Amino acid sequence: MSGAEDRGFTRGQITAFVATLAVAAALGTAAYQAGERLAGTGGGAAVSAATGTVPDGGALYAGNCAGCHGADARGALGPALAAPAGWSAAEFTQAVLHGRTPDGRTLSTVMPRFETAGLDGSAATEAQLNAIQAYLKTLP
Ligand code: HEC
Repeated sequence: MSGAEDRGFTRGQITAFVATLAVAAALGTAAYQAGERLAGTGGGAAVSAATGTVPDGGALYAGNCAGCHGADARGALGPALAAPAGWSAAEFTQAVLHGRTPDGRTLSTVMPRFETAGLDGSAATEAQLNAIQAYLKTLP
């Protein structure tokens, strides 16, 4: 003869399982919010970035450029990006994708060719490059 315990979970087991799920969800939410704070985004920008409609220029910069150009783009291994922030979108794209500047310089290969390197591991899009340049324009 089989009792209730043989057919399924006890009430105590179910309660424990639901509690575990709730803790996991809370941790996930906290981690996501901490990530937003680190990336310097929040509110609407984070929502649209999460849905993939508007690339988050600040996050793209932090993940792909800041290591060499500095967190605030004032220069480190690579030069400050105040001047490129004011280039036309086509000039900026040409430099970042192909390493050629408006004044005809070919950048050293220390500067990645993002056409092949990609952004965050996938092919760079025009919208992403525009978002990065727009972000650079916001820096003091
Ligand atoms: C591995 C290091 C490195 C990374 C990562 C990097 N750069 Fe560079 N970048 C450089 C170096 C070094 C130069 C200078 C090359 C030269 O002058 O020959 C440079 C030059 C540039 C220039 C030309 C600046 C000028 O005034 O001539 C632009 C624009 C630029 N980088 C944008 C970016 C952007 C945008 C990203 C991220 C998507 C990025 N870089 C990521 C190292 C890097």
